[in-house]
Amino acid sequence: MAESGLCRKKLEGRVAIITGGASGIGEVTARLFADHGARTVVIADIQDELGQNVAQSIGSHRCTYVHCDVSDEEQVKNVVESTVRIYGQLDIMFSNAGILSPTDQKVLDLDMSQFDRLFSVNVRGAAACVKHAGRAMAERRVKGTIVCTGSVVASKGGPSWTDYVMSKHAVLGLVRSASKQLGEHGIRVNCVSPYAVATPLMCNSLQKEAGEVEKIHQSFTSLKGTVLKARNVADAVLFLVSDDSAFVTGHDLAVDGGFNC
Ligand SMILES: NC(=O)c1ccc[n+]([C@@H]2O[C@H](COP(=O)([O-])OP(=O)(O)OC[C@H]3O[C@@H](n4cnc5c(N)ncnc54)[C@H](O)[C@@H]3O)[C@@H](O)[C@H]2O)c1
Repeated sequence: MAESGLCRKKLEGRVAIITGGASGIGEVTARLFADHGARTVVIADIQDELGQNVAQSIGSHRCTYVHCDVSDEEQVKNVVESTVRIYGQLDIMFSNAGILSPTDQKVLDLDMSQFDRLFSVNVRGAAACVKHAGRAMAERRVKGTIVCTGSVVASKGGPSWTDYVMSKHAVLGLVRSASKQLGEHGIRVNCVSPYAVATPLMCNSLQKEAGEVEKIHQSFTSLKGTVLKARNVADAVLFLVSDDSAFVTGHDLAVDGGFNC
C-alpha cells in the first residue's frame, strides 16, 4: 500500500545533532526527529544524566547523548567530527542550546560577567555550531539544513533581559549571513523564533509553575484558545529541516500566535 502523505516520515535516514536536546524544546524535537525516521539523533548538552535518560527513552539505536558545552568551540568541533566519523555524514544541525542570565539585566544594571557568560553560550555557541556543521556538510557535499533557535525578542526590544535580547538579535544575524554564504553549497540555514514556552528555562527564571507561565503569556498573543507548547516549536523545526521547506533559507519562522505582528 502506498504510504499516506499524512504519516510520511520526513527525515528517513538522516543524521542530526541537537544542542540543548536534554530538555525543553530540544528534547521534544529530538523525539519528533526520531519519530520521523532520523537514522540518528545526537543530543549534545551539558546535563549528562538528563541527556542520557532522554536518549535511552528514545532508543539507543536511534539516539545518543554526547556531553558538549557549546561555549567551547573544541567541544562543538568534536561532536560534529565524531558524528561524521560514526554515522558517515551530518544532515541536520539544530543549534538550540541557550540560557538566560540569573538577574533582570536591565541596561542600567548590566552585570558584564553574566553578559559574557550568556553571549558565550547563546552567540559564540551558535556560531561554532553553524561553522562546524556547515564545514562538515560542505566538505562532503551534503545539502544539509541548519536551524538556530532565536526568539520573538530577536527582532524587538524588551523591558529587561537586555543581554538575552541582544544575543537573539545576534543569532538572527548569524542565520542571515550563514544562509547567504552557505547557499552555494546547497545548505539551508533558518531560524525558529518561539514566543514563551513553559520549559525549565522559562519556569525557573520566572519562578513559576508551567501552568502559571502559560496563563500569564496567553493574554499577549492574538491567537486565542491555543497554548504554545514545545511540540509546536518542534513541528516548525521539522518543517525547516525537512524537504517540505526545500526552497526556504535565511528565514525567521515565528511561532508566536501573532505576538510580533
Ligand atoms: N522557553 C521559551 O519561552 C523560549 C522562547 C524563545 C526562545 N527560547 C530558546 O529556546 C532554546 C531552548 O530553550 P528551552 O526553553 O527549551 O530551555 P531548556 O532550559 O529546557 O533547554 C535548554 C537546554 O540547553 C542546555 N544548555 C545550556 N547551556 C548549554 C551549553 N553551554 N552547552 C550545551 N547545552 C547547554 C541546557 O542544559 C538545556 O538542556 C534556547 O535557545 C532558548 O533561548 C526559549
